[in-house]
Amino acid sequence: MTTATPLLDQETRQKWLALLDTLAAISARHPDAVFASSLAAEDMVLTHAIFEAQLPIEIFTLDTGRLHPETLAMVGRISQRYGVALRVVHPEPEAVKEHVARHGEFAFYDSIELRKACCGIRKVEPLRRVLAGRSAWLTGQHRDQSVTRADLQEAEYDRTFGLHKYNPLASWSDAQVWAVIRARDIPYNPLHDQGYPSIGCDPCTRAVRPGEHPRAGRWWWEQAASKECGLHESNIRFVKVKENG
Ligand code: ADX
Ligand code: SF4
Repeated sequence: MTTATPLLDQETRQKWLALLDTLAAISARHPDAVFASSLAAEDMVLTHAIFEAQLPIEIFTLDTGRLHPETLAMVGRISQRYGVALRVVHPEPEAVKEHVARHGEFAFYDSIELRKACCGIRKVEPLRRVLAGRSAWLTGQHRDQSVTRADLQEAEYDRTFGLHKYNPLASWSDAQVWAVIRARDIPYNPLHDQGYPSIGCDPCTRAVRPGEHPRAGRWWWEQAASKECGLHESNIRFVKVKENG
């Protein structure tokens, strides 16, 4: 018995077609553009679009050393499906070793400073290395993910890393992301079916309860306004500017 593939509603179909055009335009303007994939649902939509349109946008993921096995397994699943091996970028082993020796393996629960220091070593520094010398990068962020992303633009200049930054899914809803995943049979992280709408590192992500905000399980011991890891520092700046009027 075959299962019918769900069709996209008109608005999502238009968004999908517009996304292919946007990605082609970014790639033409920035032949050295790279896409940072966390391997979560939004990023799988972008990954699929990049491969479907056969664009020369390099896709990489930051393996922090603390990801769930299900997340890491996505690298193999992508290679199986699309025949392309993603670039996997690791933190500096010495920096990780020194941080863990000084503060312990679970220091991120102790303070925001130590949490940000861990994100700095495991995510931000490796990202800085990948972006060095490039003119643009892409992310899978969208506005309704968080208060820190409510003002997210599709295109911005990233002052933290000094290059153009594109968030082509900025105006997409979660429902539209999932509609495309179902319609195109795009592989996705099985944790999404186990109460994890948003997935980061294993010790810093918990499943959410029904009715909770999708990002409630990320760094759940912190306030919503601080929940950025340094990859998207401009989001925090926007919140601060808004708070200060
Ligand atoms: S986070 O900053 O809070 O961790 P989130 O998980 O919502 O971010 O992902 C937002 C975007 O940041 C993703 O769409 C992706 O572009 C980028 N990103 C987050 N984590 C990673 C990762 N481990 N590797 C590569 N890119 C990532
Ligand atoms: Fe470290 Fe947690 Fe940040 Fe991952 S999310 S880099 S484990 S503090």
